[in-house]
Amino acid sequence: MPVTINESTVEQTNPANSSSSQRGGFSSALGTLFATLGSAVGLGNIWKFPSMTGENGGAAFIIVYLLSTLFVGLPVMISEIMMGRKARANVIKTMRQLSPSKSQPWWLIGVAGVLSAFLIMAFYTEVAGWVFAYIFKSISGGLLSTDPQITSQAFVDLVTNPLQSLLWQWIVLALMSLIIIRGVSKGIEATTKRLLPLLLVMLVVIAIRGLTLPGASQGLNFLFKPDFSSLTSAAILSAMGLAFFKLSLGMGTMTTYGSYFKDDQNIPTTTLRVMLSDLTVSLLAGLAIFPAVFAFGFEVTSGPSLLFITIPSVFASMPFGSIFMVMFFLLASFAATGAMLSLFEVPVAFLAENTRLNRTKATILTAFLLALIGSTAALSSSTLADFTIFGKTMFDLFDFLSSNILMPIGGLFIVIFAGWFWGEKNIRKALSNNGLLKNERLVTLFIVIVKYLTPILLIVVMLNGLGVF
Ligand code: PFF
Repeated sequence: MPVTINESTVEQTNPANSSSSQRGGFSSALGTLFATLGSAVGLGNIWKFPSMTGENGGAAFIIVYLLSTLFVGLPVMISEIMMGRKARANVIKTMRQLSPSKSQPWWLIGVAGVLSAFLIMAFYTEVAGWVFAYIFKSISGGLLSTDPQITSQAFVDLVTNPLQSLLWQWIVLALMSLIIIRGVSKGIEATTKRLLPLLLVMLVVIAIRGLTLPGASQGLNFLFKPDFSSLTSAAILSAMGLAFFKLSLGMGTMTTYGSYFKDDQNIPTTTLRVMLSDLTVSLLAGLAIFPAVFAFGFEVTSGPSLLFITIPSVFASMPFGSIFMVMFFLLASFAATGAMLSLFEVPVAFLAENTRLNRTKATILTAFLLALIGSTAALSSSTLADFTIFGKTMFDLFDFLSSNILMPIGGLFIVIFAGWFWGEKNIRKALSNNGLLKNERLVTLFIVIVKYLTPILLIVVMLNGLGVF
């Protein structure tokens, strides 16, 4: 008779768990899923995914994105989580601990990861700061104009004001610090468990509103009509880059979260659920945005201007638009929060484990460093607008360095390490929970993919990122 293992009924007897209770960890299977999904769901779902899909061939792009998440994203995510759980340590310590030979510098992957977390946080907290500011602006009615020129001016006023930019970034950092200090279970897990369902409900409400507007079908066409001719090789490669950013990969976030997974958590099914739910949120965001944009005859824009200029005008055009606008920026702030917590946790876990600082002091130090580095991104549209490196402002440079260089390189080394150095035996044990899960065939498939397919695909992404082709 087949033995089925219920995730919640297996008692934790492994010594790894006693150490995990000292350093904190997720407390339930559902909480683990929410926290991990909270990292994946972020501002990337709200403006990167929908606008990239619309611009790059609709359903055709979604198919390529799906393949990228299946053959690149999932293997990297599974590798990170299983190794983090095995080592029960921050990303640098995990790589050092699992390395077959102490003379091999695999820990450098961890160092690059902590560095990427800082760089992403530096610009991400700024965009999140704008989102938080927009909650208040939309409540006060200051954004209620159907004229994009007026909403554009409101945005320009915000980003070109150095004091306001810094202030909102610091408010975001302070809020995140308060949650992080409470710990992995009481802080991160508890917060994401509350915010994600609310986010989902608000997103569905806004999507239904958008879809029931006259003229909404044009937006559906924009989003879903498969246009294989716009599927250039650049679009294919950017779909893979998006998979990295979307699923928070290649920089130790998932390794750190994996170190908080319980021993009985089913890693393959959890990661698959995270990937599919993240995709669902992205598609819902597309449905919440584009039908309405087309229904009111606005131009489709991408990046921050879609979020902060077009969307306010779109909502201002619909009945009860101010309520939907507040809802929209609230849900965007919830999405950004889960993602930022996971980014914040990478350096905090490192500092709390590798220095004498306790979690509170590690959090304060991280927030301080982030405020310092982040301020260069926050001032990129004002005081430092003319300060560029390789023709990019600090904001754009941090985005470029992390997404196009550090994350793909990190992902490549992680899968090479997992597949070729940590090895098949360890992978089998880790993914079957020491033989308790009967998923041998799935694990065999994973091993083939992680050893051969993913590294090859990743090298292609990297060469593109470096502009080789
Ligand atoms: N996945 C997040 C998003 O889609 O907005 C961004 C992100 C979070 C990237 C955490 C990297 C990370 F470690």
